[in-house]
Order: sequence, then C-alpha cells, then structure tokens
Amino acid sequence: MTVAQAACVEAALAEGHRLLMAGASALSVVEEAIRVLEDSGHFNAGRGSNRQLDGVRRMDASIMEGCELKAGAVASIERIIHPITAARLVMEKTAHVLLVGQSASRFADYFGLERAPRVKRTAGSQANQLKLRAGVRRTLRLHRAMMQTGRLRARSLGKETVGAVALDLSGTVAAGASTGGVDVMLPGRVGDTPLIGCGVYADNEAGAVSMTGLGESIIRVAVAKEISDLLASGLSPAVSANQVLRKVAERLRGAAGVLVLSPDGRFAIRHSTPHMVAGVIGRDGRPHTQDRFASPRERLIQ
Ligand code: GLY
Repeated sequence: MTVAQAACVEAALAEGHRLLMAGASALSVVEEAIRVLEDSGHFNAGRGSNRQLDGVRRMDASIMEGCELKAGAVASIERIIHPITAARLVMEKTAHVLLVGQSASRFADYFGLERAPRVKRTAGSQANQLKLRAGVRRTLRLHRAMMQTGRLRARSLGKETVGAVALDLSGTVAAGASTGGVDVMLPGRVGDTPLIGCGVYADNEAGAVSMTGLGESIIRVAVAKEISDLLASGLSPAVSANQVLRKVAERLRGAAGVLVLSPDGRFAIRHSTPHMVAGVIGRDGRPHTQDRFASPRERLIQ
C-alpha cells in the first residue's frame, strides 16, 4: 500500500462518513466514495485504469441498492473519469441494468459526465498492429497455460479495482465497484465488476457485497450473490466471506478480496490475495486503513 493510496482511501471514507451523517442515502455514499478513488489515479479505476492490449482504457462499474434491488452497470466504457456515476445513471434514468461499449460512452456523454483527457490513438499504424498481434499471441499463450494448470491468477501492478459498501440511517444497504480490468487483457475483455451478483450485490434482507480480484474466477462462482445468500441464511459477514473465498480457492485456485456489510451493521473485509488496501470508519469516527485484514491463520490460500 502506498502512502498515496492510504490517503485516498481515508479521503473516500471521510467523505462517505460526512455524507452519511448528513443523512445521505447508502447509494450516494457508495457513489461518492468510489468517485474519490476513481479521481485519484492511484487505483485501477477511473483515471488510473489499466489499458487493454490495443492501448485503450475500457472500464467496468456497477452499483446496487438493497431496498428495491435496483441496479445499474456499464461495461467497456471509454473516455470518462467516473464509470460509477454512469452506472448509477443507467440505474436511475433507464429501465435497463447494463450498457456496454461505445453506446455506454455515448450515454455518459449525453449526461455530460467528465471526460478523461484525449489520448492520441495510434492503433491504426502498421507497427502498432504488429505490436497488438504479438500482444494477443502472448496473452493467448498465458491463457492456455492458465487453462492447463487450472490456476487463475492475474499479475497485479499494485493498483486494484475499487469498491465500497454502506448502510444508511433508513436501514438500506448499497454496494458498488469500478475497475479498469486486469493488467494483461484482450480488447473487449469484461470482468466481474459490471455483473450484478458477481462483482457486487445488495439486498436489505441479506447485506451488501463488493468484490476485487480476478474477474474470471469471481464470475464462475457468482461470488457476490453466493455471499449474499449465506448472509440471508444467517451466517455472519466474516464466515460468509471466508466460506466463498475458500470455494474460489479450492475449486478454481483463484484469489479475491471482499467487503461485506450486513443490515445490522456487522462487516468483514477478507481477502485471499496477499494484500487488499481497504478501510473502515472506526468507533472513534475516524478512517482506519490497512492492506492486510485476515490474521495469518485465517488467511485462506497463497
Ligand atoms: N475484478 C476486476 C476484474 O477482473 O476486471
């Protein structure tokens, strides 16, 4: 965890706390906290998003609230700083749940969302086409190896997906996440983050869940919904999270991290990755940030 990342998480927590105390909805708190992280450039989201093999940033985000189970998401959206706001607009201004690609970018433009500075696209030149083909070949080789060993791992460049969960004064929970994907990805690749039930889930009868980690394993276990179902069955946030992270590790040899919050205010931050930068507002009303959460005995796999 860099000093800058810790400061950003603390800023996001402080902003979320301020809004909650002022009576804001859990949905607004989640959106605003994630906007702080997207804006920072210190995480793999918004300004700091990874580029796909053709040099283009294609981002994914989703948001959900637990009272009416309303959700919105965007996938492969380009050119904007705040995909989480685009996701909320899909939820609130349309009858859809998910918009993708150029159409999602045009939707964001329609609502005047802040654009990222323009980067010159050189993908059309012959040299770049050759570089892209070489990158695709390398990626396919890497994926063949992963499929043969069954070991789903992405290299981490120290910048991760961002997410937030919140419970507001009316008792509604919300969850959101925003990402630039993984570090080596084919153009058009979409991860778990925009898929409701995989990257996020929120239900006032269960709790709120937001995921980070390699989307390919999270999708195949529908992790967020599976944790939500365990919460609904009466298990605690920590036990629910551990149980599903263990399943991801045992069945897919995958690693992930999760924020879980139950409607009665219990929460857990758990990860089977080596680190996960995250924080909470403590009983003292101040933000506390760490990059390791489970004790070594509780840590699930490495
Ligand atoms: N969890 C982010 C991704 O795999 O895209």
